[in-house]
Amino acid sequence: MFAVTLIDQQHRELVSMLNRLNDAVKNNESREDIYRIIDDVIAFTRLHFATEEQLMIQSGYTDIEWHKDKHKELIQDALHLKGKLAYVGEEMFTDWFNHWPFARVLAHIQYADKQFEDQLLQSGMKE
Ligand SMILES: [Fe+2]
Ligand SMILES: [Fe+2]
Repeated sequence: MFAVTLIDQQHRELVSMLNRLNDAVKNNESREDIYRIIDDVIAFTRLHFATEEQLMIQSGYTDIEWHKDKHKELIQDALHLKGKLAYVGEEMFTDWFNHWPFARVLAHIQYADKQFEDQLLQSGMKE
């Protein structure tokens, strides 16, 4: 499989998990369920970032340190918010949840990952 196909698949999976998380909050599902989905999202995101970083090393991508910093920031923000959510009451929960870095994750996929994927595509690298 082309390496870029694997990344695209993981992006689709990640977006669908984020939609699932959004729905769970909108539908007032139990906190236990929401925390479980958050943990799943974070675990999958870590796996995805590790996959990208591995492919960056293998393909000799030049912006790797900058890109790794962006990954680290997104994980830290998600973990920080998860910690906050544990302390907020029902009426503030949705407000706080709206700070989840959805838009930043999508922007990361559209811009930072796109640059890397273009290079991978040119290299024709398979995983
Ligand atoms: Fe990505
Ligand atoms: Fe990335």
